[in-house]
Amino acid sequence: MPLHRLLYTSEARLSDNASGADLMVESIVAHSQANNEKRGLTGALLYVRGTFIQALEGPLDALENTFERICHDFRHARLTLVDMSPASERMFERWSMTYLAQNDEPARLLVNRDLEELYFTVSTNAAEAMRQMRGLLLGEGKKPALEVV
Ligand SMILES: Cc1cc2nc3c(=O)[nH]c(=O)nc-3n(C[C@H](O)[C@H](O)[C@H](O)COP(=O)(O)O)c2cc1C
Repeated sequence: MPLHRLLYTSEARLSDNASGADLMVESIVAHSQANNEKRGLTGALLYVRGTFIQALEGPLDALENTFERICHDFRHARLTLVDMSPASERMFERWSMTYLAQNDEPARLLVNRDLEELYFTVSTNAAEAMRQMRGLLLGEGKKPALEVV
């Protein structure tokens, strides 16, 4: 079965209260990891500005099947499929599903900025967005333009 990869965005419909929203995300990620592992799928889920950005890759039948279920999930809405193409190799082979979101920790300033940039790249260049996702997850976040020594 040929390898395919898709990228989509959606508006999160999470609980208004922060700890409820965290629990919802934890549950999504835990189920995704268990299911994807069984189905040979790998990928990444980002959360920026109330938007989910998810890359998912694997055998076409498993990918289509899972995406169908994702599309019907009430925890998000207004899904936009940004890209779906054959792939010669995996980009997210390390993760059955990994999750990255903006947060308030000062140490996360660069990651937050990169996530913000990705949010805009997704709508203009899907391939570049997925490269940036991979780089970010591998800890290749950009260095500050001006380093104070
Ligand atoms: C943003 C988002 C991403 C999701 N990603 C996945 C995924 O990668 N794999 C998966 O199996 N389910 C994913 N889900 C969950 C599915 O929509 C669905 O709830 C789940 O597959 C049902 O699994 P279960 O039959 O084990 O309960 C995602 C849901 C949301 C809201």
